[in-house]
Amino acid sequence: MRFQGCVAIITGAGSGIGRATARRLADEGARLALIDWSAEGLAETASLLPATAEALTLVLDVSDEPAVEKAVAEVLERFGQIDVLCNNAGVAGGHMDITEQDRAQWERVLGVNLIGPMLFIKHVSPHMRARRKGAIVNTASVAGIRSGAGGNAYSASKAGVINLTMTAACDLGEAGVRVNAVCPGLVETGMTKPVFDYARANDKVHKLGSRCELRRYGRPEEIAAAIAFLASDDASYITGQALPVDGGNTASLNMPGMKV
Ligand SMILES: NC(=O)c1ccc[n+]([C@@H]2O[C@H](COP(=O)([O-])OP(=O)(O)OC[C@H]3O[C@@H](n4cnc5c(N)ncnc54)[C@H](O)[C@@H]3O)[C@@H](O)[C@H]2O)c1
Repeated sequence: MRFQGCVAIITGAGSGIGRATARRLADEGARLALIDWSAEGLAETASLLPATAEALTLVLDVSDEPAVEKAVAEVLERFGQIDVLCNNAGVAGGHMDITEQDRAQWERVLGVNLIGPMLFIKHVSPHMRARRKGAIVNTASVAGIRSGAGGNAYSASKAGVINLTMTAACDLGEAGVRVNAVCPGLVETGMTKPVFDYARANDKVHKLGSRCELRRYGRPEEIAAAIAFLASDDASYITGQALPVDGGNTASLNMPGMKV
């Protein structure tokens, strides 16, 4: 029960990793503000929480600054405090060649994946600073560390999230507010459904995750466990870090043909 008495905002809580994080933090006693642009997704997440859990659901686009500011005010009005912020909402971009990049697509992906977390940090951190307490966990990606795991815009957005994590940690460290990131490898969620559907249809599911040292892809609950750790007092001396949660994927070049 590491989050007893705590209030946590989770964005992208209507599916996948955000939903698993909501369940994990609720299981550990947190009161939740669940944010997503999908009302249906949020309703399903809320229905999966323990009966005793207290959750506020807010439907908004994380890249819309007035909506973010209003949501933070609503959370403070309802709960009076914010202890944890999980910036997790994200969208995939397409996999186009560098010569075929589309500016509007880049702006959409950066708007949600990078500007969204910045906006929530901007509007939540004055409250955390004033209380001299708080933990922020951003969901980045292995795509922000190496190429090959996402399209160009997506990968750049996640590299940006890793750097935002460091710069925000430097700005907020003096106030005792910690900022970290998780960098998940491949996990089966709404975002990666097309990849899994294709692999299943072509009898290739065993290949997904085969480049990871653990030889498998991840589960949303495994990412949620790492987010919960970084958000908890167990990580009280960790800030400005981006933790790969990827079955060892980024630990190795794992070049084809080098291993039998
Ligand atoms: N699944 C993976 O393999 C993987 C790997 C690395 C990183 N990630 C990251 O994990 C995070 C969660 O993704 P997921 O895999 O659970 O995918 P998902 O599609 O299952 O969940 C993402 C959620 O974010 C919401 N969302 C998207 N854009 C939004 C916006 N503008 N405003 C509000 N809500 C919005 C969606 O409605 C959805 O509920 C993302 O940041 C993603 O980039 C996922």
